[in-house]
Amino acid sequence: MASQQNAPILNAPASVRWIVALAVGVHVLRALLPTGADEWALETFGFYPARYQAADNGGSELFAQIVSPVTHLFLHADWMHLVMNMAFFLAFGSAIGRRMGNAQLVVLYFLCGIAAALFWVYLNPPQHALLLGASGAISGMVGAAARVSIWPPRHSSSALPFWRRSTVIAFVVIWLLLNVGFGIFPIMLSNSYGGIAWEAHLGGFIAGFLLIGAFDGRGRLGVVAMPFGLQEEFRTMNQIRSARPAVDALESLLTRCSVPAKMLREPAPDGAELEQILETAMRAPDHASLRPWRFLIIRGDARQRLGEVFADALCRRDPLADAAARDKEMSRPMRSPLIVVVCADIVADNPKVPAIEQVVTCGAAAQNMLNAAHAMGYAGILLTGKNAHDPFVKQALGLKAKDEIVGFLYLGTPDCEPRPKKRPAAAEFVREWTGREPLG
Ligand SMILES: Cc1cc2nc3c(=O)[nH]c(=O)nc-3n(C[C@H](O)[C@H](O)[C@H](O)COP(=O)(O)O)c2cc1C
Repeated sequence: MASQQNAPILNAPASVRWIVALAVGVHVLRALLPTGADEWALETFGFYPARYQAADNGGSELFAQIVSPVTHLFLHADWMHLVMNMAFFLAFGSAIGRRMGNAQLVVLYFLCGIAAALFWVYLNPPQHALLLGASGAISGMVGAAARVSIWPPRHSSSALPFWRRSTVIAFVVIWLLLNVGFGIFPIMLSNSYGGIAWEAHLGGFIAGFLLIGAFDGRGRLGVVAMPFGLQEEFRTMNQIRSARPAVDALESLLTRCSVPAKMLREPAPDGAELEQILETAMRAPDHASLRPWRFLIIRGDARQRLGEVFADALCRRDPLADAAARDKEMSRPMRSPLIVVVCADIVADNPKVPAIEQVVTCGAAAQNMLNAAHAMGYAGILLTGKNAHDPFVKQALGLKAKDEIVGFLYLGTPDCEPRPKKRPAAAEFVREWTGREPLG
C-alpha cells in the first residue's frame, strides 16, 4: 500500500517536473558555457521577430526559425526570472496537469508558448527585441485554470474547477492589470520598452483560456490534433492514459471526499454520465441478489416540490415550527442541481438476508455512485436527517412504510476544489486476530 513515506516530495505531475528540470538544466548548462557560446545559444534558440524578416541566411537560420518558438521557453534572463517562472508553473501547471494528464499538458504548454510568441510579434514589439522565458506558456496555464474555474467544460476529467468563480475573476483581473501595467508603464514614463513581454503573457493567457476547452475531457485531444495529421499519435497517448486504470481507480478512491450540498452547482451528471453512475450501483455487493436498491432522480422544479414535502413533514413533526424553519426545509433540495434518493425496498423476513444487510447493500450502492461521480469530475454528499426517516416523506415519494430512505445523494460540480481532509490512518482501526489472544 502507498504510504506517506513514499509520497514524492514535489507533488507535481511528471510532465511538470520534467519541464522544470529541463528549464533548470538548460540554465545551469548556459552558466557553464563560455560567454560566446552562451550568446550563440541565445541567438539560435531565443525568439527574435526580426529573424523572420531577414533575407535567407541559410540552413542554420531556417533551423532557428523553426525551433525558436519552442526553445525560447527554456531560456531565462537570470536565476530570478527562472525561479519566478518555475514557481508559477509548479502551481498552475500542476493543477492543469492533474486534470489533463501529462501528454495533453505538454502539448497545451507548447501551443500556448507558441501562441504567446506570435501574439507578441503581432502587437509589434521593437523588431530587435528578444523573447526569452516560459512565461507565455505559463500564462497559458493561468488562462486554462481560469477558464476551467469560471466556465467549466461540460465533460471534465477530474474533480475541478480549482477555485471559486469570484476568487478567480478577481485574480484574473488583477493578473491582467499587473501584466499590462508592467508592460505599458515603462513605455508611458520613459518611452522605452520594458523588460516584461506583457504581450506574450496576454497571448499565452488567451490561448490557454480558449484551448483548454478542446483539450479537456477524455479522448477529445483528437479534435486539436486532427489538422496536424497526428490523430494516431494522440489516440495512442489517450490509450496509454486509459491503460492505467488500476492506478487511476485507486487514486480516485483515495481522493474522494464529500462536498457540502450548497457547494455543488451545475452541471450535474446527466444522460449517459448519470446512467453510468447508476450502473456502478449495480456493482454493490448484494446477498442473494435481492436487488433491494431503488433510486429516485430529483432535479429541476421537482426539487422545489421536494422542499415543500420537507416543509410539510416538518410541520407535521412540529406544528409549532416557525417560518424560518419551514423556509430552511424548503430550501434544502435547492442546494444542489441533482438529488438521487437512495432507497431500500426491504424484503422482510427473508430467511437468509436480514433487513440490515439489504440496507448495507444500498449503502454500498450509494458509495459506488459517490466514487463514480468523483471519478467523472463531479462531487456529492449523502445526507439523511429527520426527513429520511419520516413516514410522510416516504409516502410522498411513493415508498412503502417498510422501505428505507438510505440517504439523499446530492450531486453536482463542486464550486471549488474540495479541501483535502485529514483522514485517520487505517491502522488505528485494524488489528490482526490470530485466535491465540487471551480472552477478556
Ligand atoms: C447514511 C449516511 C447518512 C448521512 N447523513 C448525514 C447528514 O444528514 N448530515 C451530515 O452532515 N452528514 C451526513 N452523513 C455524512 C456525510 O455524507 C459525509 O460522509 C461526511 O460529511 C464526511 O465526509 P467524507 O465523505 O468526505 O468523509 C451521512 C453519511 C451516511 C453514510
